[in-house]
Amino acid sequence: MILVTGGAGFIGANFVLDWLAQHDEPVINLDKLTYAGNLETLASLQGDARHMFVQGDIADSALVTGLLTEHRPRTIVHFAAESHVDRSIHGAEDFIQTNIVGTFRLLEAVRAHWSALPDAEKQAFRLLHVSTDEVYGSLAPDAPAFTETHGFEPNSPYSASKAASDHLVRAWHHTYGLPVVTTNCSNNYGPFHFPEKLIPLMIVNALAGKPLPVYGDGMQVRDWLYVKDHCSAIRRVLEAGSLGETYNVGGWNEKPNIEIVHTICALLDELRPRADGASYTTQITHVKDRPGHDRRYAIDARKLEAELGWKPAETFDTGIRKTVQWYLDHPDWVARVQSGAYRQWVQTQYGAPATA
Ligand code: NAD
Ligand code: DAU
Repeated sequence: MILVTGGAGFIGANFVLDWLAQHDEPVINLDKLTYAGNLETLASLQGDARHMFVQGDIADSALVTGLLTEHRPRTIVHFAAESHVDRSIHGAEDFIQTNIVGTFRLLEAVRAHWSALPDAEKQAFRLLHVSTDEVYGSLAPDAPAFTETHGFEPNSPYSASKAASDHLVRAWHHTYGLPVVTTNCSNNYGPFHFPEKLIPLMIVNALAGKPLPVYGDGMQVRDWLYVKDHCSAIRRVLEAGSLGETYNVGGWNEKPNIEIVHTICALLDELRPRADGASYTTQITHVKDRPGHDRRYAIDARKLEAELGWKPAETFDTGIRKTVQWYLDHPDWVARVQSGAYRQWVQTQYGAPATA
């Protein structure tokens, strides 16, 4: 079996759903269920013996050690993190605690467990650390895209905490031989994305008749990857990635934010026209910029393609259409996220906030 941390969040939950759609290999899903964790996303796995959910903190060494001893997973996929840049600017403490201290405690528990494994299991063991392109900092408009050898120049409390976790993972490989691989991915989008991030926020605000808040001039550039392509890249790196290596994951879809917002508005104009016949673009509002806002990210994912044969399946056009359609088709999921009702899901569904 495999152990996934943060598997009730956006990418982790998509990964667990895709994994169990393709394998019968069971998943232990360890997630603290912060505001970003939503077990309702995994409702289709209710009663599925291949999925064991454990509510808990990666920084809880005794809990992690107990799970490793009891279940002996062959692989760990580490998604758990505080992930929202704006929240990190308002308060960095949780980011330091989970992304740095939590990753450190996880590495130590895994190291102790792995060191004591018999040779065959030890050889087969992997820990995949899921990280971000934001560790590399910001690019000038005409600079080449980030490669894996680009220096780390994190600019926000979030990216600094992720950069620290990447360094810890690297050091645990170099010093102790822990069998790790790291992926650094660009901006994901797709189903079950919490509507605090750009794409889901714009879709749900548009449908609610609210302003579409574009930071500054909206000309900040991100590379966008459909979440299921990120999941397939992680599966591929698990299968064939070289130990101690890092792999960039990206969609070859560099776009300024304002273009993303216009694309979403155009899709909504087509798929769910406003009652008054006006375009959703009339809701676009430019607001104060994010402090220290990184101007441009771009990912060079050629290493992953050349060495492991991975390519994204979706273009931005196909992925964003699927995403907008998903939000139109799932108003209940959105409504329960917005009302906060999703946080009662564990109690409602399972009776107690522990193991489901
Ligand atoms: P998310 O915020 O949607 O989910 C994070 C999950 O981790 C939540 O379920 C939360 O409950 C859980 N969690 C938080 N602290 C925990 C702790 N101490 N112990 C156990 N669980 C805890 O994040 P996401 O967007 O799904 O991102 C997942 C990972 O991928 C993160 O490591 C993030 O840095 C990385 N990443 C995200 C993106 C992106 O565009 N979203 C891109 C590249 C990399
Ligand atoms: O690059 C990978 C990273 O992408 C991940 O590591 C992070 O976990 C993930 O949150 C994401 O970070 P960003 O800061 O790029 O994503 P966000 O959706 O918050 O913002 C995307 C861009 O849109 C960014 O330039 C800020 C801008 N923005 C965002 C929001 C929420 C707006 O203009 N208006 C908004 O309301």
